Amino acid sequence: MAYLPLRSLSPRPLDAISRAWLDRLTKRLAEPSEDVAAHRAVICRETLAELVFPQYAANWEEAVNDESIPIGTRLALAALDPRNVTLEPEYYSDCDDARYQPVKPLLWLWYSFDRTAVGGQNVELGVALRRLLAGYIFKRVGTNFKAFQHVEFTFGYNLEVGDNVVVHRHVLLDDRGGIRLGNKVSISDYANIYSHTHSIVEQADVTNALTILEDGVRVTYHATVLAGVHVNEQGMVGALAVATKDVRPYHVYVGIPAKSVRVKPNAPDPATILRTADVRLARGGAER
Ligand SMILES: CC(C)(COP(=O)(O)OP(=O)(O)OC[C@H]1O[C@@H](n2cnc3c(N)ncnc32)[C@H](O)[C@@H]1OP(=O)(O)O)[C@@H](O)C(=O)NCCC(=O)NCCS
Repeated sequence: MAYLPLRSLSPRPLDAISRAWLDRLTKRLAEPSEDVAAHRAVICRETLAELVFPQYAANWEEAVNDESIPIGTRLALAALDPRNVTLEPEYYSDCDDARYQPVKPLLWLWYSFDRTAVGGQNVELGVALRRLLAGYIFKRVGTNFKAFQHVEFTFGYNLEVGDNVVVHRHVLLDDRGGIRLGNKVSISDYANIYSHTHSIVEQADVTNALTILEDGVRVTYHATVLAGVHVNEQGMVGALAVATKDVRPYHVYVGIPAKSVRVKPNAPDPATILRTADVRLARGGAER
């Protein structure tokens, strides 16, 4: 394998516009408000209207009610305000409205931005916007958080994120029962991390369980981690695996259900931190 760290790109011609746009949004979000949910709903609506319906940005309310405008256009305009849409978690009985309603407008802005030309695959601006929004949505977020496009959450407010965490495109972070990500966690494209499950008999019988990915964990492409699983420090879940049980530190788990196939060569002395069976794995043997 070749060592290929990310390279730096030269500045884009219009970077100043991105910075000014983000600065304005940063200031608006920091404004004090009596009704945080309503304040953020207006910020979301105004931000999106300017990006996707600039001709109606200054008179959004009149346009929504203007019968001379095609009904589909009025509907699309109305949907820019998060109070006019419902998101799936709102239907959950365990949704805490006091916590969800203030973050909903920012989730709606996050998801909607990803579907615009300026958003989507626009890495630098997208990462900066999501980092800004994460600070208001998550229970906790550390420094240098990096999320690519089309990441989805359940509540958002039940997510704890350490420093230097990277979440790649099309990842589902179901934080219904809570997700805790340590420092330097990496979640690859199309991975799913769950924290709730349903009874096999009664679908409405839901169990929420905190799912934990400790420092240095990597959940790779298309893998799934089920509710309540604890992926220990430096553990790795291989492509397409389904982790149904805890993953041991420094182990690489693959398959369905995921099993350890090796211990990373950088693991501390296996004789001191790992179980006897792990010593065999560290020396190259496979787990039965
Ligand atoms: C988990 C992974 C890193 C394992 O790599 P590795 O330690 O080099 O393991 P190997 O390729 O030597 O494979 C060991 C065994 O597990 C099997 N295996 C490896 N990955 C597997 C997977 N995702 N699913 C099922 N089996 C897998 C191999 O076929 C091999 O089986 P064998 O001993 O019967 O021949 C790798 O397969 C993987 O899933 N990579 C995803 C890509 C990635 O690194 N993403 C990170 C982006 S941040």
